Amino acid sequence: MERREFIVKSGTLIAASVFTAKFGIASTLTETSKSPDYSKRPNPDHFNQPILKAIALGINAPSPHNTQSWKFEIIDDHRMRLYVDENILLPATDPPSRQIHMGAGCFIETLVLGAQRLGYTSQIDYFPEGYAGKNDFGKKPVASIQLSQGKVQPDPLAKFIESRQTNRRKYKGDLITQKEYDELVKLAGPSHSKMHFINTNFEPYLDVFYKGFEIESRTFATNEETRNLFRFNEKQRAEKRDGISIPQMGYKGLMISLAESSLDMGDQTKWHSDKSINLSLKNMKKGIDSTKGIVVWYTESNEFLDWVKSGRDFVRFALALSSKELYAHPYNQAIQEYDEMKEVRTKLDGLLDIKDPQKIQMIVRIGRSSSPYYAYRRNLKDYLKT
Ligand SMILES: Cc1cc2nc3c(=O)[nH]c(=O)nc-3n(C[C@H](O)[C@H](O)[C@H](O)COP(=O)(O)O)c2cc1C
Repeated sequence: MERREFIVKSGTLIAASVFTAKFGIASTLTETSKSPDYSKRPNPDHFNQPILKAIALGINAPSPHNTQSWKFEIIDDHRMRLYVDENILLPATDPPSRQIHMGAGCFIETLVLGAQRLGYTSQIDYFPEGYAGKNDFGKKPVASIQLSQGKVQPDPLAKFIESRQTNRRKYKGDLITQKEYDELVKLAGPSHSKMHFINTNFEPYLDVFYKGFEIESRTFATNEETRNLFRFNEKQRAEKRDGISIPQMGYKGLMISLAESSLDMGDQTKWHSDKSINLSLKNMKKGIDSTKGIVVWYTESNEFLDWVKSGRDFVRFALALSSKELYAHPYNQAIQEYDEMKEVRTKLDGLLDIKDPQKIQMIVRIGRSSSPYYAYRRNLKDYLKT
């Protein structure tokens, strides 16, 4: 399926099943930290156009609920426009689509680093046609991206693109020290958003994480949104290639099939029952209680550009974690912008002294753990703007 070339002719995309070494750059794909699983993700070697190779690497980016809400308009071999996909938003959990735009930022940063591995620098032009509000989602680009060939020394983070993973399992071992955190910040480099690090007196934050998760689970609209993005067995995961699932929640071995069979392919009554919700809260609590450090990203304003740039910042830090064999698990429930969450959101803002128009964009626990389930991504052609 992926072994295709997408050729641009007079602004139209034509898929052809040819594979030539026209650009001869496959060999310039530098080292990755572990062998990528191409049965689950696009393989950059299956494309010839540099922009498609870079996109194939960018698709390894994280996104909220693994929505991968990205739409690509290919301009030519070196240029593209990135849109959010207005058909894949999270209106209940993410009413302003802030996290969806952070996901766009995550894609941009991952593509930029991936392009460096191919020998290209990237020029990013944000919102080149302006961006006023919801009506522009999917219609106006979030960014135009242009690759330029040159002598590029890939950022050391670039080789961790395929190995970065969200890890919701229990974290083990020592607390993350200030020294370790400072090293991670140095590796991640300059950041648009500001950061807080907490490695002591976790209790009030863990309480907020738990309450946020409980509200998301017990609010019908948000819990239903999760159900719609939940994949209930491996066959469904391989078909849909998006969303989240029991193994992604950190379950292992036999527990996976037990938990999946109790969910009965997402039967609505079972999903929303107290029994299912309480089990999921219990699992979540084990993770929360094993927190070894908390990292928070916040911005001085809360504009579209803050969202995209915070996504870029988050990915750089997440890659720095991967380079040290550490993991992150976001707990963004508590910062989500729907009414039911207001009290918890205000409490968290108070704990961190965040005052409007400042905004917490991301909050994660970090630590060491065993390697988690590797999440799918869609096939590259499925993101192309038609
Ligand atoms: C903006 C953003 C918000 C996220 N929020 C959460 C969250 O609140 N809870 C969570 O468990 N994962 C969260 N994630 C992680 C995604 O679910 C994860 O990236 C996705 O499932 C793909 O998996 P991967 O990161 O292992 O590739 C978030 C990711 C992004 C980019």
